[in-house]
Amino acid sequence: MEFNTKIALPEAFKADCVAVGVFAEGALTASARRIDSITRGAVRAAMASGDMTGARGTSLLLRQLPGVASSRVLLVGLGTPAEFGDRAYGEAVRTAVKGAGPGSGSLAIAASEWQVKGRDPRWHASMLVVSAREVPFRADELKSKKDDAPTRLARLHLLLDKRDAAIDKGLAEGRAIANGVDLAKRLGNLPANICTPEFLAQQARKLQRDWGIGVQVLDRGQIEALKMGAFLSVAKGSDQPPRLIVAKYQGAGRGRFADPIALVGKGITFDSGGISIKPAAEMDEMKFDMCGAASVLGTLRAVAELKLKVNVVGVIPACENLPSGRANKPGDIVTSMSGQTIEVLNTDAEGRLILCDALTYVQRFKPSAVVDIATLTGAIIVALGSVRSGLFSPDDELAAELLEAAGQAADRAWRLPVEDDYQDQLKSNFADMANIGIRGNAGSIVAACFLARFTKGMRWAHLDVAGTAFRGGSAKGATGRPVPLLTHFLLSRAGA
Ligand code: BES
Ligand code: MN
Ligand code: ZN
Repeated sequence: MEFNTKIALPEAFKADCVAVGVFAEGALTASARRIDSITRGAVRAAMASGDMTGARGTSLLLRQLPGVASSRVLLVGLGTPAEFGDRAYGEAVRTAVKGAGPGSGSLAIAASEWQVKGRDPRWHASMLVVSAREVPFRADELKSKKDDAPTRLARLHLLLDKRDAAIDKGLAEGRAIANGVDLAKRLGNLPANICTPEFLAQQARKLQRDWGIGVQVLDRGQIEALKMGAFLSVAKGSDQPPRLIVAKYQGAGRGRFADPIALVGKGITFDSGGISIKPAAEMDEMKFDMCGAASVLGTLRAVAELKLKVNVVGVIPACENLPSGRANKPGDIVTSMSGQTIEVLNTDAEGRLILCDALTYVQRFKPSAVVDIATLTGAIIVALGSVRSGLFSPDDELAAELLEAAGQAADRAWRLPVEDDYQDQLKSNFADMANIGIRGNAGSIVAACFLARFTKGMRWAHLDVAGTAFRGGSAKGATGRPVPLLTHFLLSRAGA
């Protein structure tokens, strides 16, 4: 889908369809008013008839209106002006794209009138692209007969009354974010028999070819040489060999790779729970346990496309968590790369075991900040559902930056505490720490506290995306979150 801007009035620009907004309770946008007066009341007639109420999420396609260059006019319901916020805006854009009709290849959209209070033109343009691009996404790569496309829209024209460089900037940002989101969704949706640790490594190598990102992939021998005993203990239960993927984007100057921001993504390509095996129901969804890793790759792609002036290192520990004769057993004690020993009381708390070694590893880059992204705990779904990701950080400044980025990206997060009082739960009689706390007792916070033990001396934050990175049920699929949040964080770090 291509996006561009056009200086034109809605009735004069010829596309296959032109979309104009109408509010609930009868208020029309300026464009809808123009079309209404040119057509001697076609818009108000549609509303008077009850066919179009202006309610959020509704639309009405009118055809062959006299005096209008486009053969279709789509009325898009915006809801009441008072409730027109981030969500309503995204919904209106998706409604317009869906409503343009299967015959439309191009859509002109008078969306500059769809104003969310407090948001600037750049934000509106970026969000328009990200929202519009959600509509045509299909997970039919592995279907021999492809799903029906809801739209064959190839071109979206933003109708404006004057040029605005901020809008072009927003469109470019939206495009890069949408591309990153699509990559994260695609990788997330692929099954574990295809999306293996080595497959993820290949995807990183593809980023190297396409975007000049420096990629290094460490195999089991090299991971052993680093003494990543916690990561290796999870990996050894599976016949798929582990990979440690290191991807460097150097946008801040050519010299030394200095002060990068480190993104560490959980790359469990399948989480059966291991010997502490999970119940059978919905276990297929544990193919999504690499969505943190996918979001790191998606964000790197977005950042490279935007040529952001910032250095980023993505680190992905990737392996499977399976039961076998070689798998971790409850009670096993492993030695992490940091030297700290861990009693594995539950083999299903594997994410923190692979992340702790990756977090120790990133210290060598002297990162200005480290953010790990992980589908870490079921408990975060109990706390925040699928609306907000869990954000944990002992660093108030970094937490505030990430929350600001989450707000800008409409990819929301909520901060939860990482406090020493919760550390008591990780006491072990036999090792430096256990890998689980008390069942049903602040599980997401305790998991973050575990990671905190490996991030001393770094500015670190943790995003628990178990509730937001994918959906279950009939809409099952990866969401691409938190690529928008992370990209906005890096945009702001790059001063862009
Ligand atoms: N990958 C899971 C967390 C998860 C659960 C992600 C549901 C997405 C949806 C993680 O490895 C896990 O199993 N966590 C355990 C930890 C427990 C054993 C302390 C959990 O949340 O039950
Ligand atoms: Mn698990
Ligand atoms: Zn897991």
